[in-house]
Amino acid sequence: MRSIIPFNDGWLFAPADVQANVSDSQFEMVTLPHTNKVLPYHNFDNMEYQFISTYRKRFKLPEVRNGRRVFIDFEGAMIASEVYLNGAKVGDNEGGFTPFSFDITDQLLESGENLLTVRLDSTERPDIPPFGFVVDYLTFGGIYREVNLRYVEPVYVQDAFARTKDVLTANPYVEVDITLANTSGTGQKYSLSVGIDGGQESTKNDLQVSGGSQLITITLPAKGIELWSLQNPKLYSFSVSLRDSASQQIDSVEFQLGFRTAEFRKEGGFFLNGEHLKLMGLNRHQTFPYIGAAASARLQRKDADIIKNELGCNIVRTSHYPQSRHFLSRCDEIGLLVFEEIPGWQHIGDSDWQGISLRDVEAMIMRDRNHTSIIMWGVRINESQDNTEFFTATNALAHKLDPTRPTGGVRNFPESQFLEDVFTYNDFSNSIIEPINQPHLVTEFNGHMFPTKSFDQEERLIEHALRHARVQDKQMGMPRVSGAIGWCAFDYNTHKEFGSGDMICYHGVMDMFRLPKYAAYFYESQISPEVRPVLRAATIWSMGDRSTGGNDPLTVFSNCDEIELFVGRDLIGRYQPDRAQFPNLAHPPFTVPGLNLWLTWGGKLPYLHIVGYYKGEKVAEQKIDCSPLPEKLLLLPDDCELNADGADMTRLVFKIVDQYGNRLPYAIKVIEFEIEGPAELIGDNPFPLVGGQAAFYVRAKHETGTVTIRAKAQGLPDAETTILIK
Ligand code: GAL
Repeated sequence: MRSIIPFNDGWLFAPADVQANVSDSQFEMVTLPHTNKVLPYHNFDNMEYQFISTYRKRFKLPEVRNGRRVFIDFEGAMIASEVYLNGAKVGDNEGGFTPFSFDITDQLLESGENLLTVRLDSTERPDIPPFGFVVDYLTFGGIYREVNLRYVEPVYVQDAFARTKDVLTANPYVEVDITLANTSGTGQKYSLSVGIDGGQESTKNDLQVSGGSQLITITLPAKGIELWSLQNPKLYSFSVSLRDSASQQIDSVEFQLGFRTAEFRKEGGFFLNGEHLKLMGLNRHQTFPYIGAAASARLQRKDADIIKNELGCNIVRTSHYPQSRHFLSRCDEIGLLVFEEIPGWQHIGDSDWQGISLRDVEAMIMRDRNHTSIIMWGVRINESQDNTEFFTATNALAHKLDPTRPTGGVRNFPESQFLEDVFTYNDFSNSIIEPINQPHLVTEFNGHMFPTKSFDQEERLIEHALRHARVQDKQMGMPRVSGAIGWCAFDYNTHKEFGSGDMICYHGVMDMFRLPKYAAYFYESQISPEVRPVLRAATIWSMGDRSTGGNDPLTVFSNCDEIELFVGRDLIGRYQPDRAQFPNLAHPPFTVPGLNLWLTWGGKLPYLHIVGYYKGEKVAEQKIDCSPLPEKLLLLPDDCELNADGADMTRLVFKIVDQYGNRLPYAIKVIEFEIEGPAELIGDNPFPLVGGQAAFYVRAKHETGTVTIRAKAQGLPDAETTILIK
């Protein structure tokens, strides 16, 4: 039988190209996912992580082999790996975003200690995508995703790809393409079955599996299934099971799958399960402050939750590379559509480079084609020049590996050659251009046109939010546009050629810590009020922050159908969503004009009080004081329990808030942290807080127990929180 053994613990790491005779004492003990260098969240030199490092792992075979083959599966290492076992090379890999595996059976010592060595080159190798020219993001370094040891019988299931059919009819079914591998050289008879949880199963008997690999398709009826949708992302567990001629089970593989149809129609528009759906989303980079791309499964999953539930998006683009399986699985589970694309950024290299890119297409699709949330493959190098031969090949490969999904190719000039199924276009016109080709999907807008920091002046934060609102409003009114995916969800670290000079592109609707700017409130306000009411005034409520002073007009992002606005106890008025400016949004922002008639420069400014109504009922309210005083330091962990596996991590947000719980957006304070118990804090300590909010990560060690974290800031009561490590 198959065994999959997580292989993330007990690695030795040296930040150098170390010879085999150097002793382990020169190494540090680490757990994967691992970043080759913990960095400050900004103001660093990207050469700090660009080096060759050496990872070692000494291990005894955790299970007896019993004739099985043993593979080592790397989920992602940045960016070129050479792997050795007991001094012999087992293989190498070029590319940092897709998995790679080696059969290590012949080099393994069955008893006694094995030494696995990875020589990892994390420099920006011009021969490997996305590199060769400049790139507006950092890739960081390290074995930054998980590693597994996989045992399989000589005949085993190498791959299973399920295609749902006739999903919207009374007789839906699934075709499962199963690739069996035979490494034994002998031919026996096998039987193969596929089952869906809750009942139905289909079997093929007497299969002759000759050497090499063989594709077998099994059809399975799926009557009575529930559809996968954004509101009800129902997933079914599939199990594939392989038996030998003695009916002995020798392999089994499980995966999750939902039943849905997803189509971009030529006449325009995207349809999920036959129903028209306007796509509204944001781009996501996979990087985080301090830890680069080496985020735990929990942080990956949390990002999907944030994009769907905090930002109300229905789609995310994994700009500009395949992202963690944990992120994608969470998208499947919660109903967040995904547009996934190959690594690249504007530059196309020589034919060897293009060869690696084609391998990226293959590795991405082979890894991810059972993810129900994925609706399209991006097979053009983001914003590159036309290249007929190369992109004809990437498209053909994608269609061959997955005939069920369309391709897109993200471009930034409208006259570019259209070789894909969907015309995916980065539209920086500050509006939406009239589609030339159909179907048309906007894959980026805003971004560098209006970088905005969460601690910028309120006027800029409002304009940033309104630019997102205007483009989304525009696309909602254009039936031939399938949707718009803004640039971008979160601020991200970048090269010095981009960004604000401190190695950050402040293009996110949230900051790097995934904390909201006003633009995040715009997206959040598009959530249905049936899900939850949203009421967010885009103001710090003072008379002197805007260029000409005052608060006119006041913008409120809300999904309520009416708001009531008070200044102090005085009712100023009742307002409806601003349909004049935003005729197409489900929930237009509220624009409250003329406030300066009540409030004068030099006059008294009482607090702001807004009450939100939905269907005549009061559902939300917000108060903002004009003289906020720092009252509390809040420590807010996303999770109160972590696993004692040395890798599990959660975000710990800290904030300075006033008497109404509002963040003080210009608060600057040094905060000191103490931690007790089996976990570590990742982040700068003491932390020079700017803008009233930031975050750390808490990483569990290998022991269980209670972790107490304390934060101190001058003039404020200490804050304390606990996390249980189980
Ligand atoms: C695009 C690019 C993105 C990002 C964005 C900034 O051209 O595809 O990666 O750089 O600009 O607005």
